[in-house]
Amino acid sequence: MKALVTGGAGFIGSNFVHRTLQTRPDTDVTVLDALTYAGSTTSLDGVLDRVRFVEGDVADAGLVDRLVREADVVVHFAAESHNDNSLLDPGPFVRTNVVGTFTLLEAVRAHGVRYHHVSTDEVYGDLELDDPERFTERTPYNPSSPYSATKAGSDLLVRAWVRSFGLRATISNCSNNYGPRQHVEKFIPRQITNVIDGVRPKLYGAGLNVRDWIHVDDHNDAVWAVVDRGEAGETYLVGADGEVGNLEVVRLVLELMGEDPDGFDQVTDRAGHDLRYAIDATRLRTELGWSPHYASFRDGLAATIDWYRANEAWWRPQKEATEARYARTQQVLGRR
Ligand code: NAD
Ligand code: TYD
Repeated sequence: MKALVTGGAGFIGSNFVHRTLQTRPDTDVTVLDALTYAGSTTSLDGVLDRVRFVEGDVADAGLVDRLVREADVVVHFAAESHNDNSLLDPGPFVRTNVVGTFTLLEAVRAHGVRYHHVSTDEVYGDLELDDPERFTERTPYNPSSPYSATKAGSDLLVRAWVRSFGLRATISNCSNNYGPRQHVEKFIPRQITNVIDGVRPKLYGAGLNVRDWIHVDDHNDAVWAVVDRGEAGETYLVGADGEVGNLEVVRLVLELMGEDPDGFDQVTDRAGHDLRYAIDATRLRTELGWSPHYASFRDGLAATIDWYRANEAWWRPQKEATEARYARTQQVLGRR
């Protein structure tokens, strides 16, 4: 099978490429990635000689048309992905997440190629801490941030292209991922690399927010389950029953790294901060037979900490620029 993987130099996309070449070695992989601040070919170390890597923009219609034409399936990961950045500068989010998806859909439509759209549970907005119902495929869209709004917009484009043009497309909406090669701007890698540097972890607000953590390999196995066995035109939610509060995550990172669990700082909260995400993945489990391999968040987190300890050369170049961006975010948005 010839797979075109967009965003394959980012966190989830690069793990998808590694896992695909391990578990389905016959797959012929082309990666299309613009190598923004969030992408690096070092994330493909060890497999770069087994893939075709194309540096380019998913909103470049000519390039996208040429690559899609040669593929059997397109798996679309490329996106601007960080909520905090979307508060500072939403423009790139509209361009990549909405216009980029539109560009891919038009090429997929022209060439009749199978398309899988990787999306997030954040399109559903947030839940109260005591909401009895979790997100399901029937939950109405209600995004809060420029990031989640542009992901919601891209999902709706996919649905419209299915209905209007009969596209063979599926969508998966997954909860928060963790694991190797995640950019240090995100919650868990930021705290792990802070602790390695002797800096106290930074918790937004009181840390009551809850995320539904899933290991990136479990997410990527679910993507293949949907590509292989999902019904065209359908949406599947992906989650591993991994709800943990932010305060508990920070304390666990500190404990696993041999530090005082209370050794963190509380900083200004994120504007419009979603309180809780939680996924009901019954459909994926029962209809497609998927289940997660990582049973325990604690064990998965410990393995992730080991990865960051062993791979400082991978993350060190990102760290300084990222912390400078955080300082600027605090300065600009903290004044509101
Ligand atoms: P990431 O920011 O780590 O990687 C994004 C990749 O896309 C980078 O390699 C970047 O260079 C590339 N890219 C950005 N703009 C591009 C463009 N215009 N053209 C080509 N490539 C471009 O993101 P991630 O965390 O790996 O997320 C991947 C996908 O999964 C996104 O669609 C995101 O919405 C979705 N998702 C993420 C999570 C999560 O917890 N991280 C959860 C659910 C869904
Ligand atoms: P993040 O990794 O940015 O993912 P998302 O916004 O998509 O959920 O953040 C996860 C949670 O951690 C979120 O509630 C915000 C919080 N957070 C902190 O408390 N401190 C931090 O330094 C960061 C980056 C995030």
